[in-house]
Amino acid sequence: MSDESKSNKITRREMLYRTGAGGLGLLVGASGFGTISALGKTLDKEDKQTAEDAIPFYGTHQSGIITKPQTYIYLISLDLTTNQLSDVRDLFKEWTMASAHMSKAELVGPYTDNSYVPPEDTGEADGLSASKLTITYGFGPTFFDKNGSDRFGLASKKPKQLKSLPSFAGDQIEEQWTGGDLCVQVCAEDKQVAFHAIRNLIRIGRGIVTLRWMQSGFQRTPQADKKKGTPRNLFGFKDGTVNPSTDKEFNDIVWSNGSEAPWIKNGSYMVMRRIRMLLEVWDRTHLNEQEMTFGREKRSGAPLGHQDEFDDINFDKKDESGNPHIPVDSHIKLARGDGSEKILRRSYSYSSEMDPTRAQLDAGLLFISYQKDPFKQFVPIQKRMAGMDRMNEYIRHIGSAVFACPGGASKGGYIGDSLF
Ligand code: HEM
Repeated sequence: MSDESKSNKITRREMLYRTGAGGLGLLVGASGFGTISALGKTLDKEDKQTAEDAIPFYGTHQSGIITKPQTYIYLISLDLTTNQLSDVRDLFKEWTMASAHMSKAELVGPYTDNSYVPPEDTGEADGLSASKLTITYGFGPTFFDKNGSDRFGLASKKPKQLKSLPSFAGDQIEEQWTGGDLCVQVCAEDKQVAFHAIRNLIRIGRGIVTLRWMQSGFQRTPQADKKKGTPRNLFGFKDGTVNPSTDKEFNDIVWSNGSEAPWIKNGSYMVMRRIRMLLEVWDRTHLNEQEMTFGREKRSGAPLGHQDEFDDINFDKKDESGNPHIPVDSHIKLARGDGSEKILRRSYSYSSEMDPTRAQLDAGLLFISYQKDPFKQFVPIQKRMAGMDRMNEYIRHIGSAVFACPGGASKGGYIGDSLF
């Protein structure tokens, strides 16, 4: 099938979904997405999903980056098994349409009149609200060149800051938790809505992509936190206190201006680190040491020697013995450095139940940060911490990946169209 007929097929299918024209029989595609199934009737009025809690999918920036973190996340990394750029382009068109629908609490595709083909949508989110679903896409370094091959003819468009992170002191990276050609981050206030989205995107990609790794994560629900405070991580500390929050900060810290490659304009670079937290060791550590580790009080979140969680931090403040309240090897001191490198953290706790080899909990932080340049922002911070952070005794960096997340799609366009 030619490129053109494939794009026509998608456009027509989408149009039918929108306008409600149905019963036009089967459109069978031999594209790598698998079979394009029957175009049945659109949803009855009573079938229509409520779009409350919907976050728009289309826009200047992709959602899910500066969006206030929802309760649940699924982050997947995928490898492409095709060497045809047209397959990748079509996949992104399909993903874009599906994402736009799911973000509005709509089914990926209509129910079918033909009960001898599988429905377009797997169905488990049918009747559920949008639950602030966001879907964010990224390209890994190997998307552009793999084993020295310019696989899709796009190597010249690879930004210089899109490359694997260096190894840091103490890293215990496991190959199975690294890299990937593409990533998809799905976040929502409801776990089933999030799972439905990631499952359908994986399903749409069958035959073109394979799953490389997948990690889910969580934080407290809004129902559980009536005061809407800063969420706590699995060490029990408030995590996310110092983070960019204004448009100016987002422009300075997060959004690329496209100078390195025009297609990344209004996009950002994601760093993922899967960081195991040694909870058994931490739980035996006394409170004073826990607080010195972070440089903050555990209950209030205030910097040591200060009153309030959000106080401006004075790292020179000394206690009565003349020692700084906030230890020089504490996490916040090292993470701050001289204050010139900043990142947007959007991390989640994870629990993959149990590590059977150690009979211990396999839990930690699915660390995610967004920045304009991982090598000027994330890397220097992590280098400082890898050398001497007190926290290193209680954590292990197991996974690592970097992805370039393009700007958002406009209606009629699709994610990555400026790249392809
Ligand atoms: C399991 C691993 C980690 C845990 C448990 C953790 C926890 C925390 C906590 C409790 C705070 C203080 C509250 C706040 O401002 O949010 C904090 C601050 C911070 N962390 Fe982490 N963190 C981890 C890993 C990392 C990594 C890998 C980086 C980046 C390389 C990082 C960068 C930062 C930054 C930039 C701050 C704000 C520092 C400031 O300017 O005050 N953290 N982290």
